[in-house]
Amino acid sequence: MSNSIAILDFGSQYSQLIARRVRELQVYCELFPWDTPAEQVQATHPRGYILSGGPASAYEPGAPTIPAYILESGLPILGICYGMQALTLALGGTVTSSGQREYGLAEIELLQENALLVGGKQRVWMSHGDRIEKMPSGFTLLATSPNSPVAAMGDMRRRYYGVQFHPEVRHTQDGSAILRRFVRDICQAQADWTPDAIISHLVEDVRQKVGSERALVAVSGGVDSSVAAALVQRAIGSQLTAIFVDNGLLRQNERPQVETAFRDNLGTHLIVVDASQRFLQALEGVTEPETKRRIVGETFIRVFEAQARQLGEIPFLVQGTIYPDVVESSAPERAKAERIKTHHNVGGLPEDIMFKLVEPLRYLFKDEVRAVGEALGLPAELVWRQPFPGPGLAVRCLGEITPKRLETLRAADEIFTSELAAAGLLHQRTHVDSTEIAQAFATLLPVRSVGVMGDQRTYQEVVALRAVITEDFMTADWARLPYDVLARVASRIVNNVRGVNRVVYDLTSKPPATIEWE
Ligand code: XMP
Repeated sequence: MSNSIAILDFGSQYSQLIARRVRELQVYCELFPWDTPAEQVQATHPRGYILSGGPASAYEPGAPTIPAYILESGLPILGICYGMQALTLALGGTVTSSGQREYGLAEIELLQENALLVGGKQRVWMSHGDRIEKMPSGFTLLATSPNSPVAAMGDMRRRYYGVQFHPEVRHTQDGSAILRRFVRDICQAQADWTPDAIISHLVEDVRQKVGSERALVAVSGGVDSSVAAALVQRAIGSQLTAIFVDNGLLRQNERPQVETAFRDNLGTHLIVVDASQRFLQALEGVTEPETKRRIVGETFIRVFEAQARQLGEIPFLVQGTIYPDVVESSAPERAKAERIKTHHNVGGLPEDIMFKLVEPLRYLFKDEVRAVGEALGLPAELVWRQPFPGPGLAVRCLGEITPKRLETLRAADEIFTSELAAAGLLHQRTHVDSTEIAQAFATLLPVRSVGVMGDQRTYQEVVALRAVITEDFMTADWARLPYDVLARVASRIVNNVRGVNRVVYDLTSKPPATIEWE
């Protein structure tokens, strides 16, 4: 791609967001740790550089600095927060501690219209403890705020800009337009990263890599593995074989749905392996959630390996790894983040399985994966499917996993989701919107309580319903479902699902809770 933007990551929690916003402008960009070797960054042929924010103080010894090749490139630079401070120091200005952290909304006043900023006063998102004391020579003060005398600055001749605030955060009123002006007007990058262009680029890549060899893909029915399979199918056709493992932990009707979607819409050669007995035996008597995850992961690998061996020599394995997974694992300071749950991805196989990997979605964000899926002609139900954990219902059947309890859970889940669909609250999405339900499901709790049914005392289990609103699944709020829908769901569950005499609705947000119970 000759039309790219390189983003240097100085460790801000918002760095990935910058990349997403640039991609939303249909301009290709990549996020690099700030000390990535020059050749690697330059290989993407950037038309400009964005320097992210970061937690350090630019004037402290050992703080990350701006690599020389960037300043020598003659290309436009936008420094955001720490990026602006590092730019200031690199060019001979000074930065000091402002004595107190400024975090949250602030109002800046524009002093001079310029190619980056337009309009008078505007709301921006600040998060910093340092500020610019003296701008480097050649720079003009562009905007100011009560706490940040230099809220924005620019050297229009060299096309260097700096903003103290975060244009990538939605709370910044004009944020997307600021990034658009930098990327499109100042760097002159064309909006050519469209779904069709992405597809032809990736198809070509896969063809080059795989040649006339065979490839295998493990599909779960989820968005990422389905889109990866469709893309590779477009690239190499019948050289691709897909395997779908029925682990006995699927939702009601899930297996026929996935089979139909693949056979009818993709024409991919699909092998369905019924390994449910093997999984359920391995899980017998296990109640600890991390142990369940480990068992499902390991059993999957064994089943998959056995199948692969039967199919003969297949050198390539397609995985649905997407960009956020790559970014998280390439930034060691982020990878250290506390492990809350082991997220087992069906594609997450160990290296010793002896395949060469093909990861066509490696540089795409989730919304791009969906757009590509749609452009490839995948049905909307598949492209806009709710996330479903790799370990399946093992995660939602708390306590011991037995065929009977799984049946109970499936029936309750089916009632809940079909009522939401009937009420128009589900499956209408053609884009992720912060007001619609992003995920809804039932969980079976290993708790029994007393009830009464037809004059009889009952002592049965509890179903917890969960419905959340979220854009990125990192944080979430519980959905304010209409009472009448909740009432109908609860009454249908206790009247029709054996073994359940009580239904509760989960009213916690994430954090402090997570979306799944486990
Ligand atoms: P939590 O429960 O951590 O879930 O708030 C966040 C999102 O991730 C999904 N999830 C998984 N997805 N493999 C996956 O691919 C997993 O092991 C897994 N566990 C949770 C969860 O459904 C929610 O959308």
